[in-house]
Amino acid sequence: MLSPDAFANHTIVVTGGAGFIGSAVVRYLLEETHANVVNVDKLTYAANLASIPQANGHARYKLEKLDICDGNALRRIFERYQPVGIMNLAAESHVDRSIDGPSVFVQTNLVGTFTLLQETLRYWQNLGSEQRDRFRLLHVSTDEVFGSLADEGLFTEESPYAPNSPYSATKAGSDHLVRAWHETYGLPTLLTNCSNNYGPYHFPEKLIPHMILKGLAGESLPVYGDGMNIRDWLYVEDHARALALVLDRGAVGETYNIGARSERTNREVVEAICDLLDAQCPSQTGSRRELISFVPDRPGHDRRYAIDPSKIERALGWQPRESFSSGMARTVRWYLENKIWWEDILRRGYRVERVGLEGR
Ligand SMILES: NC(=O)c1ccc[n+]([C@@H]2O[C@H](COP(=O)([O-])OP(=O)(O)OC[C@H]3O[C@@H](n4cnc5c(N)ncnc54)[C@H](O)[C@@H]3O)[C@@H](O)[C@H]2O)c1
Repeated sequence: MLSPDAFANHTIVVTGGAGFIGSAVVRYLLEETHANVVNVDKLTYAANLASIPQANGHARYKLEKLDICDGNALRRIFERYQPVGIMNLAAESHVDRSIDGPSVFVQTNLVGTFTLLQETLRYWQNLGSEQRDRFRLLHVSTDEVFGSLADEGLFTEESPYAPNSPYSATKAGSDHLVRAWHETYGLPTLLTNCSNNYGPYHFPEKLIPHMILKGLAGESLPVYGDGMNIRDWLYVEDHARALALVLDRGAVGETYNIGARSERTNREVVEAICDLLDAQCPSQTGSRRELISFVPDRPGHDRRYAIDPSKIERALGWQPRESFSSGMARTVRWYLENKIWWEDILRRGYRVERVGLEGR
């Protein structure tokens, strides 16, 4: 558990705080801690300030629109706000997009992390000794850096890196930079690798919201390949709570894997969505399962990811609060009750359709 006065009167910089996980972290810090929060975000297509409804006029919240590749801008932010912690969630995050256009992934995930590390190091080296001891940089990464698993086994903190997509390769590179800045310069870093997140405020291009919106519209539900690829699902608010705990209590230089022991095939996920939609918003035309279709697989589609979260459970006492079924029920209900949030994204021109076949 996070101590109730964690981060009291201290400032945390959250990069990518307008994204899916970043906004959950910002909401958590504003609601459950006394931290001052500075949201550093370039506001790309994936950002949505409506995902932090409580931020409007909040005395402990500031938004700074900037690119993490801009070292001078980062320097000004650190000097102005004097953070005790930085949580790096700014990234290009969609695997399919990385297949069509990897360049921006290299730029933000690699060059951006490098720039953030350099400016953090400069800032940290100039702090007084007490503040230097307190300071942490938490870099948020993915289990996709470990590649694909066979039917057995789990990713641990010792799993070798074997990224397969342009996205995961850039995330793997960023993890190595973080490790090296700790080993070489002594920068007090922490690293987390988590499994697939889901929950409220998830941009409609990702599997679960994509299927919810298609199912609601009565459209075909396209599942990649044979639908037997396995992901290990983590409710985003459980993840945000874990990240705050790692920042507060994690051991410097350590990596923590975060997952909820919720492995499901993609087919099972889509079937669960169909059943929840049928229960919460019945259709006149029959069961949504009839809308499921199978489409050509994603190039280089990893077969299975699964996280062993025992280290964070043991060392920091973290446990997920949501099971897959309770988290999915909450998520489907949220999309039904928050049409304004996603209709606004669709109105701005985002179309719920497939990308990422250019590598074929
Ligand atoms: N979503 C998942 O299931 C998942 C799983 C494992 C790891 N992760 C990792 O967690 C982190 C957050 O993922 P997410 O799903 O919230 O991503 P997201 O795409 O929803 O949000 C990314 C945010 O970063 C901002 N951003 C992008 N480029 C930037 C730049 N150059 N400078 C400043 N801001 C920039 C965007 O505007 C957006 O607000 C990423 O590092 C991702 O790799 C995500």
